[in-house]
Amino acid sequence: MKIKLQNIHELSEENNSFEKFASKKRKLSGKQNLNKLVSSDESENMFTSSDLEALRARGDINGLISIIKTGKEASVYLGKNEEGYLAVKIYTDLRVRSFRKDSLYRQGRFEGNMRTRKAIEQGSEFGLDAHQILWVNEEFRQMKFLYDKGIPVPKPIANSGLVILMQLIGNEGNAAERLSDLDLEKQEAEEAFEQSLTILKNLIAAGRVHGDFSSYNILWHEEKAILIDFPQVTEIRSNPHAKELLRRDIASVFKSFKKYKPDADEEKIFKNLLHIAHRNGHDFV
Ligand SMILES: Nc1ncnc2c1ncn2[C@@H]1O[C@H](COP(=O)(O)OP(=O)(O)OP(=O)(O)O)[C@@H](O)[C@H]1O
Ligand SMILES: [Mg+2]
Repeated sequence: MKIKLQNIHELSEENNSFEKFASKKRKLSGKQNLNKLVSSDESENMFTSSDLEALRARGDINGLISIIKTGKEASVYLGKNEEGYLAVKIYTDLRVRSFRKDSLYRQGRFEGNMRTRKAIEQGSEFGLDAHQILWVNEEFRQMKFLYDKGIPVPKPIANSGLVILMQLIGNEGNAAERLSDLDLEKQEAEEAFEQSLTILKNLIAAGRVHGDFSSYNILWHEEKAILIDFPQVTEIRSNPHAKELLRRDIASVFKSFKKYKPDADEEKIFKNLLHIAHRNGHDFV
């Protein structure tokens, strides 16, 4: 039996909120200029992307204003709805971008039934769609989990297909800068470092490892560190690589702050984080 893309939502475990996919063929979307995403004709559609249109139909977005940043996997735009500004993360289709090897992060994740998992492994058309939509859904699910735990991350608003809407971190439509783009004074850098370590601790206490933790994925807004970018987040209880990913995250935060010469011991922090995980009932597999 041919698997239809829309069946995937029925495969969800613990109501993972897998999206219901349109059965029609998805248009390949590469990195897109703003004007390519907004319809130029007088048709009913405001957006050329069916994912954005689905979000518009639900009242979650009613305009795209500018591009904030183009990344390797996705581009982030400034959008708006009736309540104000939004950050709009639009993933580039896997078929038209360089592919980051993600199997390490995906281990232990729920990825549908055997047929779906096989399709993903084989990279069939269905498999590619399922692969990337599960990846994007996972980002939304983890962001929501962390937000609900009170960890400083943007408030997740809605998702559809390859698009995620979230709170814009910034003021009056101006996105906050990443720590990596700033040249902080020593005292502010120490504060940013401390806050970054606190976020790492709270992630571990919640049973999660970010997997790409560095100053490139931390925004600095009104003296507060806000973590972003979650598709590769792993759960300690199910991913056998969580410990090595944690070690890498710690090394990377130390590297990010190297120029400020942080007064802290990497190994000690690692051990402390392992302890925090254990104390909170998250034992590494
Ligand atoms: N909620 C937000 N508010 C403001 N700016 C944001 C927000 N989310 C993302 N950005 C900006 O968009 C950039 C890309 O976002 P993100 O890191 O999630 O995507 P990415 O494709 O994984 O990028 P990269 O490959 O560069 O890591 C961020 O570095 C940041 O500058
Ligand atoms: Mg990033």
